[in-house]
Amino acid sequence: MKVIAISNHKGGVGKTVTAVSIAAALHVIHQQRVLLVDADPQGNATTHLLGDDVVFDDYLGTAIIDKDILPAVVSTPSGVDLVPADARLDVDEQVIERQKEWRLRLKQALTTADEHYDYVIIDCPPALKTYTMMALVAADAYLVPTQPEKPSKDGLNRVIDFAEQMQQTLNPRLKLLGIAVTRYHKKLRNGHHDKMINLMREKYGEEMMLPTIRQDIQVLNAFDGATTIFNLAPTANATQDYTTLAATVLERL
Ligand SMILES: Nc1ncnc2c1ncn2[C@@H]1O[C@H](COP(=O)(O)OP(=O)(O)O)[C@@H](O)[C@H]1O
Ligand SMILES: [Mg+2]
Repeated sequence: MKVIAISNHKGGVGKTVTAVSIAAALHVIHQQRVLLVDADPQGNATTHLLGDDVVFDDYLGTAIIDKDILPAVVSTPSGVDLVPADARLDVDEQVIERQKEWRLRLKQALTTADEHYDYVIIDCPPALKTYTMMALVAADAYLVPTQPEKPSKDGLNRVIDFAEQMQQTLNPRLKLLGIAVTRYHKKLRNGHHDKMINLMREKYGEEMMLPTIRQDIQVLNAFDGATTIFNLAPTANATQDYTTLAATVLERL
């Protein structure tokens, strides 16, 4: 079983869509057994796969506290299994942080999933603290989605430096898969996105750049329909792009 975290300290960069779509690609295209772990109190991955009105007793918070992920797993119509999350995770944060060696807890909770899944994808919240920390300690590798925008002075180094700290302390095997630009639009403002991607390439290096994901209305349609682009629109641009990205992830793992 391989664990992949999808992380960036910024919100709205495509983390959740990337987590859901890579999970769906691994399941639908590669026929793998995939578990998606929603580690964001906003619960967007959960609503993405199950819709708005679903309630559940067990979720990521109970799984971490009980050190067992399996009781919290639910199946979804997409074929990807899910550990759901909601705002209760915000309250659990303080409970979890009071426990001994809490940073290892998600990793420990996931050991029970080992024989049931080939891949676990973790959708991280937009903050470099409790849940992202546990995710990066549990992960074999992580991927950083980003918008096509001018890299600021710190840019993605914030999340990369944070992951390096985890790698140097609690998780020596943690590997950076690379940066994936999402919501790319070729014609926008005279190739503005291409210019931004070139700046990123200069700053982070060619080998860091993963396949780009195009902006695609089907992503929003899938979200509204509580399904994935792989189920809703198998030939859409974003579906093709996430197919390529998932294949690259498998190569780099
Ligand atoms: N390739 C895409 N095409 C169109 N819209 C997208 C695409 N990727 C993400 N979005 C939309 O952008 C918004 C932010 O994406 P999301 O994955 O929720 O970001 P994050 O998890 O980083 O906050 C959402 O409304 C999502 O539906
Ligand atoms: Mg999200």
